[in-house]
Amino acid sequence: MRLNRKSLAAVGAFTLLTACTSSEQASSCPQSEGQISTDVARFSPSDVACEDIPRSLALLEPMPATHGVPVDWRTRPVLSFDGDNYRAAIPIDDGTTLYGTGEIAGPLERSGFVTDTWGEQPYREDPPEGLNPQEYDDATPRLFQAHPWVLGVRADGSSFGALADTTYRTEIDLRNGIEFTAEAPFPVIIIEGDSPQAVLTKLGELTGTVELPPLWALGYQQARWSYFPDTRVKEIADEFRARGIPCDVIWIDIDYMDEFRVFTFHPERFPDPPGLNDYLHSIGFKSVWILDPGVQQKEGFFVYDEGLEGDHFLRRPDGKLFTARSWPPGNSVWPDYTNPDTRAWWQTYIPDFLDNGVDGIWIDFNEPSIVFPLGTPTPEDLVHVGGADLPPGTHARYHNGYGMLMSQATHEGMKLARPGKRPFLLSRSNYIGGQRYAAMWTGDNSASWDHLYWSVTMTLNMGLSGQPFAGPDIGGFFKTPTPELYAHWIGVGAFFPFSRTHTIQLSPPQEPWSFGPEVEAISKAAIERRYRMLPYIYTLFRESSLNGLPVWRPVFFADPADATLRTEDHAFLLGADVLVVPVLTESDPHEFNLPSGIWRDFRLVGEDPSATPSLPVLKLRGGAILPVGRIVQNTTEALLEPLTLIVSLDASGRAEGILYEDDGEGYAYVDGDYLLTTYVAEQTGDTVMVSVATEEGDRQRPERTVNVTVVTDDGAFDGSGSETTGITVDLSAESAR
Ligand code: NOJ
Repeated sequence: MRLNRKSLAAVGAFTLLTACTSSEQASSCPQSEGQISTDVARFSPSDVACEDIPRSLALLEPMPATHGVPVDWRTRPVLSFDGDNYRAAIPIDDGTTLYGTGEIAGPLERSGFVTDTWGEQPYREDPPEGLNPQEYDDATPRLFQAHPWVLGVRADGSSFGALADTTYRTEIDLRNGIEFTAEAPFPVIIIEGDSPQAVLTKLGELTGTVELPPLWALGYQQARWSYFPDTRVKEIADEFRARGIPCDVIWIDIDYMDEFRVFTFHPERFPDPPGLNDYLHSIGFKSVWILDPGVQQKEGFFVYDEGLEGDHFLRRPDGKLFTARSWPPGNSVWPDYTNPDTRAWWQTYIPDFLDNGVDGIWIDFNEPSIVFPLGTPTPEDLVHVGGADLPPGTHARYHNGYGMLMSQATHEGMKLARPGKRPFLLSRSNYIGGQRYAAMWTGDNSASWDHLYWSVTMTLNMGLSGQPFAGPDIGGFFKTPTPELYAHWIGVGAFFPFSRTHTIQLSPPQEPWSFGPEVEAISKAAIERRYRMLPYIYTLFRESSLNGLPVWRPVFFADPADATLRTEDHAFLLGADVLVVPVLTESDPHEFNLPSGIWRDFRLVGEDPSATPSLPVLKLRGGAILPVGRIVQNTTEALLEPLTLIVSLDASGRAEGILYEDDGEGYAYVDGDYLLTTYVAEQTGDTVMVSVATEEGDRQRPERTVNVTVVTDDGAFDGSGSETTGITVDLSAESAR
């Protein structure tokens, strides 16, 4: 079925589906209507048999209703059916602004847009000649991921979230309130909260949060399609070290495979993957290698043979294997990850793969998309067998869950293979809730100023849709950035939660030094800023893993009731304390709305953003202490020798900040091997005293020097000492910068 808005409008005669509030239904059906936890209610079509309402893939666990929805529940969808499509209409109050809807190009604020949740490879480049970016955005309303979710922020800052709890293709129409439309019946889960933050924390409780990543996965990363042969990979790694540009990860794209066959290595190009990885490790690099779901249909190829024997591949309704072109020559087949046995089978390949010294995995084309010819739709009538708690269903039903189920299988395989190490997995396609298995990148973008801007708004809306670990191909995948564009992109890109440069096959070099000495110096400064901020970024990821809050937050999070901030999307907050103001336009400087309160400029590597506009201005909230480290070349070096605390006092001369530390890659933190410190700063006269206010965790506080910089309206003042005794800074010192 294709949703057709015009035909929906023409039909007009919708049957209103009365929501069932009886506790009878609540007790027997996992998808029944009723309140399912504090501030969360589910609205389900009552005239539909329980078994016809698909089980949720988004929720961590089935959440049957505990009792009926209270009569005074504020946000109530109106459910209807027109004989073809099911629809949920949610009216909104004046002054409400809408966000989320997952990965989609365009402005941060989503009111007025229609999103079609159907993961696909859109093969988008620039807006066609004469079309402005906004119109173009309307013309391509779907990308690689599917998040049938909207966050609404009312005029007073109180908020709600609406989740169409279905993996079926769902249209999200935000032109007049919120309308979800899908071909199969679906429940709508409404979360109420007194702020957008409260709603996202609830969303995290329901759909899961990101797992604390290994520290190295938060370093800067370098990719291209493809660095090959292995000697080229080494050259790139060596070049980073020779030029002193920090980098943690090199990415290995499809050309490492033997005829693009998954779980194989090309005998000439990559004859010794363990040797390559040993070399990379010896100079402080990790490597991430790509896997695709398409399995070459060739007798004698072990993955095909074993998959066929276990009946793990998708079939057509007539029982024949579904075959199409992926990367390998000839036809390929696709695993049916809805089958738990298939997920378990896929996992069996992961230990051997990782045993080559592979550190992380990258899964691609898992919307799933057919590679040749690009744009060929995967047939909606393919048969998924399901299993355990997933019933059999068509591809129309499971398409949007495919990337998530592949992520789940791969993530669990990585955990089984290396139980003591936190996995790092990146997935191109995913579904709401998929943040619990994989990080995401925004897929194939283009080297244009619009795509630079969209990479910011996309990352923000991913965070507002439950996925904090996101970032684009810095510099653009298609086409080649001008030196100026690359400089601006890496300037802001160094702060993406996931920070990686990547580009297409056969494109000119796109390393930080590829655009001449001036851009190289800017790139180095940008990446060094990230490395100095890593202790704070790591602390933010830990916070996100606990409470579901995004790492990148829209500026309006500083004051959700301030209407002037609601559409501000040329700047963003990193956590609650750092405001990042990049330049995202080639011309027409953007008028920026600063949130109320004190926001003081600070610097990290001696940079001057007024002289180098490609480096964003950084501002620290009055009342915050920012923990930062030193510049290192990669995260195997100790970040916090010394630790620096950058202090911005509030109007009453106080500030507070948190630092989280652990071993950076294992699970000992779960058993208490971590150190969580709250620092406070207090001003008395001309003196600021910085000390440890509280600490948590069993990890020993290291002996280390702590430098303090107090940024004030009159300059910055430095002090140094030990955090065990406290550090004093003299604000009357002549040496103020
Ligand atoms: C498509 C991915 O989006 C891109 O990042 C990758 O380089 C190519 N596939 C080749 O694997």
